[in-house]
Amino acid sequence: MFPMRNLLFICISLVLFGCSKPSATPAAEITVYTHRHYPADQALFDAFSRESGITVNVLKAKADELIKRLEIEGAESAADVLITVDAGRLVRAKEKGLLQAVQSDTISERIPAAMQDPDSQWFALTKRARVLVYAKDRVDVATLSSYESLMDEQWRGRILVRSSQNIYNQSLLASITHHHGGEAAEAWAKAVVANMARTPKGNDRDQIRAVAAGKGDLAIVNTYYLGLLLNADDPADQALAGHMGVFFPNQGDRGTHINVSGIGVTAHAPNREGAIKLIEFLARKDSQEVFAQSNYEYPVNPQAQAGELLQSWGEFKSDTVPLTLLGELNTEAAQTFDRAGWR
Ligand SMILES: [Fe+2]
Repeated sequence: MFPMRNLLFICISLVLFGCSKPSATPAAEITVYTHRHYPADQALFDAFSRESGITVNVLKAKADELIKRLEIEGAESAADVLITVDAGRLVRAKEKGLLQAVQSDTISERIPAAMQDPDSQWFALTKRARVLVYAKDRVDVATLSSYESLMDEQWRGRILVRSSQNIYNQSLLASITHHHGGEAAEAWAKAVVANMARTPKGNDRDQIRAVAAGKGDLAIVNTYYLGLLLNADDPADQALAGHMGVFFPNQGDRGTHINVSGIGVTAHAPNREGAIKLIEFLARKDSQEVFAQSNYEYPVNPQAQAGELLQSWGEFKSDTVPLTLLGELNTEAAQTFDRAGWR
């Protein structure tokens, strides 16, 4: 279709204008593939650039797309860093060989061992608790206790929760599988399906909005979504969030299910040193407090303070199931959901 001369021109252009990976990337630049889509993150990248002189290129996409893209790009990838949510996905990225081990005393000081991959291939940046958010005017807090208690008939037609395709739910079920075994986990999922107010649809924020609209009485959601609604631009979201209570399940036994968002240096990072510097920066006390104050997530650096809103919800006991186990039990959890009929 193309005369030979044109084809040659196109080939030369591709080489000259960066369609192939440059052999040496300047050290003053890193590329971040991220699923996190919050203003707090961009503010932190800008602060890092000002401080280090390293430009941060950001590519945002859905989490599974980023993993797919890294797989396809292989050694040609421009990515230095992967940021994603849920331990299940971090484990998946590691298992696919998309990350590499990083040794940094600074990171070890700032991120506790339980919040890291045992082989140092990924590090949690923030913690999120999967809690019960309920209509204060319709639910007596004394009737709330544990994830298991949601199996009770008193919740028939009252529970709102998103689809089982969602990894937050898969990790929650993985934790239940770890604690009680596969059969009990399936029984739990079936009972919750029987108690659902509707077929799952929408994201965590939509479940809270549906509680406010009276479609159900309680929602299983991550904490920061209530924070985001309370501080939303839309006054309607702010108002409805004010009518919600937050309950941390399983305080009498293993603790509330916790998950993380996290970061890892990619297997073929052109600027490995710059990538490590970014992780060290994001784990620093002041950066951690930016995550906590503007995105209502819990810091992983023990020196960092949670924001005012998080503090107002009170201290709570967290389930200490190893994060890697949530990843290892992910496939089983997804299959259990299918058998239980959780759409
Ligand atoms: Fe989220």
